[in-house]
Amino acid sequence: MKYVIGVDLGTSAVKVLLMNQLGEVCVEISQPYPLIQEKSGYSEQDPEEWVDKTITAISMLVKGFGGSLDDIEGISFSGQMHGLVLLDQQNEVLRNAILWNDVRTSNQCEEIYKLVGKETLLKIAKNPALEGFTLPKLLWVKEHEPELYRKAKTFLLPKDYLRFRLTGQIHSEYSDAAGTLLLDVANKRWSREICEAVGVDLTLCPQLVEPHQFVGTITSEIARRTGLSVYTKVFAGGADNACGAIGSGILEVGKTLCSIGTSGVVLSYEEKKERDFKGKVHYFNHGKENAFYTMGVTLAAGYSLNWFKESFAQKEDYDTLLTGVEEVAIGANGLLFTPYLAGERTPHADAFIRGSFIGVDSSHKRIDFVRAVIEGITFSLNESIEIFRDGGKKIDTIVSIGGGAKNDTWLQIQADIFNVKIQKLSSEQGPGIGAAMIAALGCGWYSSLNECAESFTKVVKTFEPIEKNVRQYEELFRLYKKVYQSTKEISEGLASFRN
Ligand code: XUL
Repeated sequence: MKYVIGVDLGTSAVKVLLMNQLGEVCVEISQPYPLIQEKSGYSEQDPEEWVDKTITAISMLVKGFGGSLDDIEGISFSGQMHGLVLLDQQNEVLRNAILWNDVRTSNQCEEIYKLVGKETLLKIAKNPALEGFTLPKLLWVKEHEPELYRKAKTFLLPKDYLRFRLTGQIHSEYSDAAGTLLLDVANKRWSREICEAVGVDLTLCPQLVEPHQFVGTITSEIARRTGLSVYTKVFAGGADNACGAIGSGILEVGKTLCSIGTSGVVLSYEEKKERDFKGKVHYFNHGKENAFYTMGVTLAAGYSLNWFKESFAQKEDYDTLLTGVEEVAIGANGLLFTPYLAGERTPHADAFIRGSFIGVDSSHKRIDFVRAVIEGITFSLNESIEIFRDGGKKIDTIVSIGGGAKNDTWLQIQADIFNVKIQKLSSEQGPGIGAAMIAALGCGWYSSLNECAESFTKVVKTFEPIEKNVRQYEELFRLYKKVYQSTKEISEGLASFRN
C-alpha cells in the first residue's frame, strides 16, 4: 500500500494527515500555535512556528505509522490564504507574517482603488480591495516599514513559505496567488499592470506553478528531522479553501461547500472565468486546473466560538461547552449574535464593525449565548448564500466541513438556516484531504481530481431542512440582517476606545 501526506497550515494549528490509496485517513496529528495580536485589528504569526510545528507533527505522524517509509510517496499543502511573508536577498524572513484576518490596511485599500481603479482591479484581479488580501499588506509595509521593505526580494504566502523550507525551492501557485490582488486571474499570470500602478516590483512575485506540479523532494535536513525518506515527492498544493473544495468533491458545476474553521466560507464551483458577481463575493482560481470558484467569507466563524470559549469557559472543551445546545429553542430565547469580532468581509466589507449580542435578558443562561453564537455565525454565512441565489445559482445541497461539521445540532441548524440538504463527510478535515488528493494526483494514482474524489470523499450522513424551523429562521434572519446597519455607527464611534 502507498501513502501520501496532506499538510493543512491553518490559522490556529497545523494539521497533518496520512492517507492511503483507498482514501482512508490512517494517522492525523495537529499542533497548535498562537496568534500575535499587538493591537485591535492586528493579526500576525511567526513563520518559524509554522515550520517547527509542521516538523514536529510530521515526525509524530512518522512515529505513528508502522509501515515502510519509502511507501510514503508524496506530500502536498493547504494553507491559510493571503498572509504576507517577506524574504530578503538571503531568503531570510524579514518580519512576522501579517495574516488574512488582520484589518489594519483600510488606507492601503483606498490607495489601490485610486491607483489601479476599481473597474480595472475587478477586471484583472476579479476581486475588490479588501483589508485581508496580500497587496494591501505589502503596501502597508512599504509605507510604515520602508527600511525593511527595501530589503525585500520575494513575498510568499504562508504554505508556499513552509514548502520552501521543506524543499529549498521558491514557488507560488495559482489558487493562493489569486488571493493577493496581484494575479491576472483569468490569464493566470502576475499582473504587470497592477504592479506598475501601485509601485510594486514584479520581481517580488515568485514563479507560478499549477497546484499539482512536482516541485522537488524534501531536503536531507528535513528528512533527518521528520524521519521521512529523502525521495518523498513534493507537490505545490493550494489555498485552504481551494483544497477544502477538492477534499469535499466540489469539482463540478452545481456543487457548494460550507466550511467553518477559524473563518467561515461558502464556496461554489465555477468553470468559467467570466461570471460576474461585481466583486460582492470573491472569485479565485480553484486547485483544479483551469477551474474557478466564487466564495463569501465570514471572518470570525469558528473564531467567534473559540473567543467565547476562551473568555467564558476556558477550562472546558467544546463538547462540554456545547452540551445542551440542542435543547435551547430556535432563536436562543430571543438572543441574536453578530460575529464581527474582527470586522467583516461578506456581505459587509467593513474593518470597523464589531460584534454584538442583541436582546440580552436576565433569564439568559450561558448555553443561550452559545446557541446565539452558533446561529449568528450561520446567519452570517447565509448572507453569502443569499448573494449566490440572487445571482441565479440554485443551491439545494451543501457539503459541510471544518469544526462546524463536528456537531450534529450545528449541522441541523445549517440545514434549517440555509434551507438545503447538508451532507456530512467521513472526515471534516477537507483542506488536509484536498492537499493529500493533490499529492495523490501528482504521484499518478489517479488521472484527475474528480476520479480521486470518488475514493477520497464519502458522505456519511445527510441533514434535511425541517420546514417549521426554516420558517422560524427566515423570520430571525430578517432581524439579524438589520443589526449591521443599526450597529455600524456605534462600532465606528467605539473604534477610538479600542486598544
Ligand atoms: C479566505 C480567507 C480565509 C483564510 C482562512 O479569503 O481569508 O478563509 O483562507 O484560512
